[in-house]
Amino acid sequence: MYTMMLFCFSLWSLSGVFSECVSVTEGDSVTLSVDLTEVKDGISWKFGAHDVVIAEMNAENKNISLYEERADGRFRDRLKMDHTGSLTINNITLTDSGLYQVFNKNTKTKLKIFNITVYGRLPIPVITRDSPVQSHLMNFSSSSVSDCSVLCLVMNVSHDVSLSWYNGSRVHSSISVSDLNISVSDLNIRLSLPLEVEYQDTNTYRCVVNNPITNHTQHLHITQLCHTCQGYCCCGFTEAVIRLVISALVGVATVAVLVYDIRSRGDEQTVY
Ligand SMILES: *[C@@H]1O[C@H](CO)[C@@H](O)[C@H](O)[C@H]1NC(C)=O
Ligand SMILES: *[C@@H]1O[C@H](CO)[C@@H](O)[C@H](O)[C@H]1NC(C)=O
Ligand SMILES: *[C@@H]1O[C@H](CO)[C@@H](O)[C@H](O)[C@H]1NC(C)=O
Ligand SMILES: *[C@@H]1O[C@H](CO)[C@@H](O)[C@H](O)[C@H]1NC(C)=O
Ligand SMILES: *[C@@H]1O[C@H](CO)[C@@H](O)[C@H](O)[C@H]1NC(C)=O
Ligand SMILES: *[C@@H]1O[C@H](CO)[C@@H](O)[C@H](O)[C@H]1NC(C)=O
Ligand SMILES: *[C@@H]1O[C@H](CO)[C@@H](O)[C@H](O)[C@H]1NC(C)=O
Ligand SMILES: *[C@@H]1O[C@H](CO)[C@@H](O)[C@H](O)[C@H]1NC(C)=O
Repeated sequence: MYTMMLFCFSLWSLSGVFSECVSVTEGDSVTLSVDLTEVKDGISWKFGAHDVVIAEMNAENKNISLYEERADGRFRDRLKMDHTGSLTINNITLTDSGLYQVFNKNTKTKLKIFNITVYGRLPIPVITRDSPVQSHLMNFSSSSVSDCSVLCLVMNVSHDVSLSWYNGSRVHSSISVSDLNISVSDLNIRLSLPLEVEYQDTNTYRCVVNNPITNHTQHLHITQLCHTCQGYCCCGFTEAVIRLVISALVGVATVAVLVYDIRSRGDEQTVY
């Protein structure tokens, strides 16, 4: 499904610097932990490709300075640093993704690297009855009257998101944002995936939206979604039988009333 898969490994680089991968969901807080109490020279935190200094702690008095106006003011009111040198970023945004590096303030030696990837908050998928215009009517002859077309939909998702239908525990079908020809910066992508089931189908189906760190599931309730008439007739077998029985009962009752009426009229006539 993925056209390109990028992996991020936490490892010791050749220069002996530990590089740690961190995955966070948009809106959450993340603490980049360092225990640099042994560092006598103070530390500085740098962000991004341009090594912008966003936080510093000096050696003598552990005085902490946060430079939230730098890096286009993106970190305004969102940074915190404690006496161990650990940096907390609150309410993280997609564009906070990138490298955060810790340096010795005096010797300028690199001490630790964090590679942060921020993923968008996933919506709950919505399952709807698919429009019959798209599926049934265009090729009415090929689709059985017992078919029910449904659609699983998520709105406003971003990169690295996939949508899948599961039939039991097996993946039935899948689509991911990377399958679409959409620019990476587009944050309001709509993903949808159709499914064709039968009214009598007793398999369990669920639609799952996921990114590399989380997922949300919505179960398909065939009886609720398919056995209703939504402006057009889509009556299932059970419903047809019930309708038939009701029609028959109404018919029998009508005949009975008529017969009773005719008989009583007949009785009246014989009296007079
Ligand atoms: C950071 O991690 C991402 C994947 O999460 C990877 O694509 C990127 O190359 C990594 N950057 C560095 C400098 O290792
Ligand atoms: C401590 O940091 C503040 C700014 O956060 C600065 O005004 C002050 O001069 C610093 N004090 C020392 C002793 O470095
Ligand atoms: C988090 O940031 C978004 C914008 O990036 C803002 O709309 C929202 O109010 C912030 N939430 C908190 C709790 O600060
Ligand atoms: C309609 O269904 C028939 C038979 O299943 C198929 O051969 C034909 O290609 C379908 N046409 C369209 C437009 O999907
Ligand atoms: C999707 O985003 C647009 C604009 O960003 C917003 O108007 C719309 O309400 C969002 N839809 C959902 C379902 O969140
Ligand atoms: C789901 O799987 C069952 C067998 O496990 C199969 O009979 C059924 O056709 C599948 N449903 C769909 C929609 O493919
Ligand atoms: C993707 O879109 C670009 C222009 O937006 C186009 O040049 C390119 O051919 C498209 N690729 C595919 C596989 O459709
Ligand atoms: C969804 O996430 C849970 C853990 O939260 C995991 O156990 C499960 O395998 C995931 N399911 C899918 C379809 O990714």
